[in-house]
Amino acid sequence: MLQSIENYMNKLTKTSDGTYPLINPHTREKITEIPECTNEQMEAAIAKSEQAFQQMKVLSSAERSDILFKTSQLIEDKKEDFANTITLESGKPITFSQGEVDRTIQTLKFAAIEARKLEGESIRMDAAPNGAGRDAYTIFQPIGVVGAITPFNFPLNLVIHKVGPALAVGNTIIVKPAEKTPLSSILLANVLQEAGLPENAYQVITGDGPRLGKVLIDHPAVKKITFTGSPQVGKLIKSQAGLKKVTLELGSNSALYIDKSVESKIEEIANKAVVGAFSYNGQVCISTQRIYVHETVSKSFIEHFKIATEALKYGDPNDPSTDMSGLIDEKTQKRILEWIDEAVQDGATLITGGEKEENGVKPTILANVSTHSKVSCQEVFGPVVIINTVKNGEEALEAMNDSEFGLNAGVFTYDLPQGFHFAHELEVGQVLVNDLPTLRFDHMPYGGLKSSGYGYEGVKYAMREMVHRKFISMNYTF
Ligand code: SIN
Repeated sequence: MLQSIENYMNKLTKTSDGTYPLINPHTREKITEIPECTNEQMEAAIAKSEQAFQQMKVLSSAERSDILFKTSQLIEDKKEDFANTITLESGKPITFSQGEVDRTIQTLKFAAIEARKLEGESIRMDAAPNGAGRDAYTIFQPIGVVGAITPFNFPLNLVIHKVGPALAVGNTIIVKPAEKTPLSSILLANVLQEAGLPENAYQVITGDGPRLGKVLIDHPAVKKITFTGSPQVGKLIKSQAGLKKVTLELGSNSALYIDKSVESKIEEIANKAVVGAFSYNGQVCISTQRIYVHETVSKSFIEHFKIATEALKYGDPNDPSTDMSGLIDEKTQKRILEWIDEAVQDGATLITGGEKEENGVKPTILANVSTHSKVSCQEVFGPVVIINTVKNGEEALEAMNDSEFGLNAGVFTYDLPQGFHFAHELEVGQVLVNDLPTLRFDHMPYGGLKSSGYGYEGVKYAMREMVHRKFISMNYTF
């Protein structure tokens, strides 16, 4: 355990209500004890955050940008520490953890750039009857304390997706990290401070999510809640938050269509799609969960997909050659196996996988899956993919939209009008033509329709959800 993490936790433990054990998901061995912070600790953190806001709001955009850029450089210098910490607490294979650190550096750089560019607009007042004689414009002002509730699957980059925009606009932020992966967000505290962030502008409070999250939601000084997690919790937060600003990034059962027009590229697409389906054991909101393939290319696609899936290597997540590792906890492993069994009972064909492998689940392919099976209509958040054969694009489109979720969707096609048709008709926030749904660049807008979310992330877009837009009019004829 890194000393800076120990130090931060020791301070929290002084007033916490004891500790809880942090378990390595791959080995299921105890890593350390994490402070179970009290409601009073969260309230004290909010008070400190309010004070820190007085310093944050007077920093110039250039100063905030410099802090964010410096943070990205410090993380680059300590890349190994960050990647190892992610792997230790999440069980993520090390190459994916290194990828997450690279993305975090990018997210921070985007925040540093956007901090300098947060500009309002000028409004033509003479467009309205009696409006002439005024010059008017809008400015963006920070709102104050932001409460962030973050998930286990990207314990660094999904924290930075909330912290970067909040600090870029001049807010302060308190992170309540996932109980299972709090270490990366704590390690971040150190580098932010070293980069010159005012004290307490970023704080981490560890412990029980629903209890501590409720303190953030109920407290009048917290002006915004930003959450990534399950739709159930997201809906609860929205119902409790009243007039507070809220951004919710929730789940998905992301779908992909593969058209007959890309027949010449079937092997390449199958190899890519295996990565989309099984990266970090499928514990990704935009994991490729449902694949619809045109009947002319279906047999060949499934053959290539199966070969690439069976070549994935389960093992120690610290080993750079490992693809698959233990799932986040035993409950998740059990649930996924039950869902696979249910699909088979509903008539699905098990092509490969379907059983546990140590603390994980073998990468599983199911074909001919009923739309009612949970692996189709709910978010698996595990290493399971369904492949259904369709007669044409319209059938695929209908199946893809037959979902309570709407985050990302992908289409592989060389039929240009078909690509545009899908882009228009898919009921999702983001459409990726000739890419997988499991694709996110950290500066793109990222938000879900239906049960997939409310509001947007993506640095520039998240920033606009963390500010007041103030309108100012100057009557120069008075
Ligand atoms: C998520 O799983 O919520 C985000 C996926 C990503 O950032 O790649």
